[in-house]
Amino acid sequence: MNGNIKIKNLNVHFMTKLGNVKAVDNVSLELEKGKVIGLIGETGSGKSVLGLSILRLLADNAIVSGNIYYEDMDLLSLNKKDMIGLRGKSIALVPQNPGTALNPIMRVGRQITETIISHEKVSKKEGVNRAFSIIKAFMMNRSNLKSYPFELSGGMKQRILAAIGISCNPMWLIADEPTKGLDAIVRGQVYDTFSKIKERNNAGMLLITHDLILARRLCDKIAVMYAGDILEYGLSREVLEKPKHPYTKGLVNSQPRKHLKPMLGSSPSLINPPEGCKFHPRCEGAMKKCSLEKPLLYKTVMGSEVRCFLFDKVEKRNEDI
Ligand SMILES: Nc1ncnc2c1ncn2[C@@H]1O[C@H](COP(=O)(O)OP(=O)(O)OP(=O)(O)O)[C@@H](O)[C@H]1O
Ligand SMILES: [Mg+2]
Repeated sequence: MNGNIKIKNLNVHFMTKLGNVKAVDNVSLELEKGKVIGLIGETGSGKSVLGLSILRLLADNAIVSGNIYYEDMDLLSLNKKDMIGLRGKSIALVPQNPGTALNPIMRVGRQITETIISHEKVSKKEGVNRAFSIIKAFMMNRSNLKSYPFELSGGMKQRILAAIGISCNPMWLIADEPTKGLDAIVRGQVYDTFSKIKERNNAGMLLITHDLILARRLCDKIAVMYAGDILEYGLSREVLEKPKHPYTKGLVNSQPRKHLKPMLGSSPSLINPPEGCKFHPRCEGAMKKCSLEKPLLYKTVMGSEVRCFLFDKVEKRNEDI
């Protein structure tokens, strides 16, 4: 029991009329308590699905296999009641879509307060006061608490979701694009508040984001996802400043503050993904082997892990062997 979240051989497929969508493909990843782990990758790569799997909040057409261990429990086989008790208090989610994630017919203040009261033995008054102090940290005021979601801008709804996420001082926060659409000042404020929670509880965070500058500022480690696979994982300065995988290099170089060089091609179908390395059709350095065999995650001398045959001379990762 070390407070880590250990994802082992996680597969998530969605049944659709066109076939099975393989959104997460045999992912193994240990999220260390007290650390911020960034999850980056192009749209549709499986980031949200991976985050939602931890809390078992996937759509009904999902078929899930593997294990997600937390505090001696396998979250994937936990009974419903225990899972509900864990959500919000031990592991909380700031969901990606502020437009749909809030209850449209309940004032937002009540939505924060009810989250607090449902998990902690506090009076209604204390719940309201706590809700107020949280939203103050997100640069909102008491009158905002009285609003219904439709009365608030997208950015304000985003901040209410962040407030609900941290309202019970969770040990883990899964934050899915928590600052999308916010201006730079508010964005900084949201992250400062998250950082305080992290310091106070020694909590951990899985931060799903497209913003590599913020990821570099906030994350201890980064996992790079492509078509359901983790292609690179390591310390954030290693991954973002000295990317190894050709895909990570492409992502970094397409950022506005870097070369703004768009990556060639587009993400593959997740129903019929390419054989071998799923990135090989877009990779400038692809070899014959890359279309035939899926590379393992290889450990580099700097300690990061890269799923690419260019790095197969070093060490193989235990889980994959
Ligand atoms: N219920 C579902 N049924 C079928 N396919 C789904 C379902 N939910 C997600 N998917 C598919 O799974 C894949 C991964 O989706 P996911 O939402 O995790 O992407 P993402 O990396 O979070 O992208 P973004 O950066 O745009 O948020 C996508 O192809 C998506 O269409
Ligand atoms: Mg997403």
